[in-house]
Amino acid sequence: MTTVTAQDRTAAFDAAVAADERIEPRDWMPDAYRATLVRQIAQHAHSEIIGMQPEANWITRAPSLRRKAILIAKVQDEAGHGLYLYSAAETLGTSREELLDKLHSGRQKYSSIFNYPTLTWADVGAIGWLVDGAAITNQVPLCRCSYGPYARAMVRICKEESFHQRQGYESLLALSRGTPAQHAMAQDAVDRWWWPSLMMFGPPDDESAHSAQSMEWKIKRHSNDELRQRFVDICVPQAEALGLTLPDPQLKWNDERGHHDFGPIDWTEFREVLKGNGPCNDQRITQRKQAHDEGAWVREAAAAYATKHATQRPAEPTTARTAPGEATA
Ligand SMILES: [Fe+2]
Ligand SMILES: [Fe+2]
Repeated sequence: MTTVTAQDRTAAFDAAVAADERIEPRDWMPDAYRATLVRQIAQHAHSEIIGMQPEANWITRAPSLRRKAILIAKVQDEAGHGLYLYSAAETLGTSREELLDKLHSGRQKYSSIFNYPTLTWADVGAIGWLVDGAAITNQVPLCRCSYGPYARAMVRICKEESFHQRQGYESLLALSRGTPAQHAMAQDAVDRWWWPSLMMFGPPDDESAHSAQSMEWKIKRHSNDELRQRFVDICVPQAEALGLTLPDPQLKWNDERGHHDFGPIDWTEFREVLKGNGPCNDQRITQRKQAHDEGAWVREAAAAYATKHATQRPAEPTTARTAPGEATA
């Protein structure tokens, strides 16, 4: 009989990661790898469901039936993303209940961007273009994440995020080419959402606490600054096509680097919002808890239904069944 030592297991895990193989729920993995994934996937799941709030704010006031249908579909997609991600986190041995409890008590975070208010209809367009756009830039590399269930969830999420980004862009384009007041509303929304979108990539590489280890484990494939730069380079020509200005006087093409240079990010603001001092932190969590409490009867009913059907097996049919057209003996 051979015994598998801790060293063997670590070596097998390291070899699988090095060979770009997927780690699956039943595979052995280091505790820190598991904890990192739970933290990251939970934060991602929480962001999806908290992110429904600022946009849902405009569903009843969408300017046309077409815009309303698109926005409802988008907000519903975000709920779905939350569900795929909570399920992925559950494969690591945690439960949705536990994760939601940590969100509600402030022990786990969600993306800071959702602590900003949606002041006008144009914010829905700006969120689609910039916030979903930044999310895609962050998430496409996660489709190759070393943890199988997370990587697979991201494939579908990214396809849907790309619809979100396009609907935002198209909506802003309509406003930008509309009346002077509509154009001004689109520009104001971009002015307010641009910098928080750049903060979505997280702190600069030299201050990012988890980055190096996550890259080594192939959970993360690119650094925060690299992804932020990629996003800026994508947005500049899109802003031109939209006829809108990005609110950064230092933004300009750098021939030498082959990238756009951009101005300094106000990390003090980022840290304040992260600490809970953003404009809508309290409102988001209060509404989330309220929605959770109001949904208690749905969870109880679903659990009662599942228990009932787990104990009551369906009775066997008493007469023989035949397929249509099949001869009976
Ligand atoms: Fe999403
Ligand atoms: Fe989205």
